[in-house]
Amino acid sequence: MERIQSAINKARANRQGGGAPPPQAAAPRALQAGGGSADIIAGAWQDIAMFKPSVRALKDNRVFTLKAGGDAAPFDMMRTRVFQQMRSNNWRRLAVVSPGKACGKTTLSANLAFSLARQPDLNLALIELDMRRPSLARTLGLQAGNEQFSRALEDRDPAFQHMLRYGHNLAFAFNRSPAPSMEELLQSSHATEVFSDLERVLDLSLMIFDMPPMLSSGEMMGFADQVDCVLLVAAAELTTLEEIDLCERNLSEVTNLLGVVLNKCRYADLAGGYG
Ligand SMILES: Nc1ncnc2c1ncn2[C@@H]1O[C@H](COP(=O)(O)OP(=O)(O)OP(=O)(O)O)[C@@H](O)[C@H]1O
Ligand SMILES: [Mg+2]
Repeated sequence: MERIQSAINKARANRQGGGAPPPQAAAPRALQAGGGSADIIAGAWQDIAMFKPSVRALKDNRVFTLKAGGDAAPFDMMRTRVFQQMRSNNWRRLAVVSPGKACGKTTLSANLAFSLARQPDLNLALIELDMRRPSLARTLGLQAGNEQFSRALEDRDPAFQHMLRYGHNLAFAFNRSPAPSMEELLQSSHATEVFSDLERVLDLSLMIFDMPPMLSSGEMMGFADQVDCVLLVAAAELTTLEEIDLCERNLSEVTNLLGVVLNKCRYADLAGGYG
């Protein structure tokens, strides 16, 4: 407990004082002893800086799920199916991936995250692992900032320093700039530690990983053993059937494919393409 408090204090001091801490101050490793006590978990959540998203900016970026109803409905239906499937299999880690770029992974991940977070008994994290072309901050409508979660994976900073939370149960980890060599980094033992420490310290019921496109980079296949299941997002008029088929086959060999979402359909809603 003292180690946790000390790591939390360090993260707080770093955020308030600015500047990078020495590598040994990385919170996740110090937090390994954590988990369990409700006080410790609540304290850890409070130590992540809070943000209040602009509903307007989110809507402009097609993120509709802060509140139920209207445009949130198809995402809420998807959320329920995803969550039921994951819970019944005792799965806690979901990767969202697509064959090529711009299919809507980040938008879908953010919608799922806000939708799930309306269930107050769930603790969630959305982690941006598309570090070649990071876009989660923009999708969330955030103003300029310094968050660079890749630094936590590199063991240079505490993870909390590069995270923000919405409310009491949804944490976001993201990057403001591209980071190189992500494929190797994601397979490093330190990155593995960071994810399991976050899971334990924040008592996460579910982690969503926003991945890079899988046909142009090796991150997804290299990271597949760290997740329980995958949602494949295809875009009508962008993704070919051959690409979907290839990705389905590759993913099925290494993890559980939860479903394929056909996004950007002109005449069908999102939920219609899920299955
Ligand atoms: N259903 C949709 N209909 C129309 N536009 C959409 C839809 N979903 C997402 N978009 C838009 O498509 C663009 C790409 O979306 P997004 O960034 O979520 O895709 P991505 O798969 O994460 O892309 P990247 O491969 O660059 O990470 C954004 O401008 C987003 O607002
Ligand atoms: Mg993206």
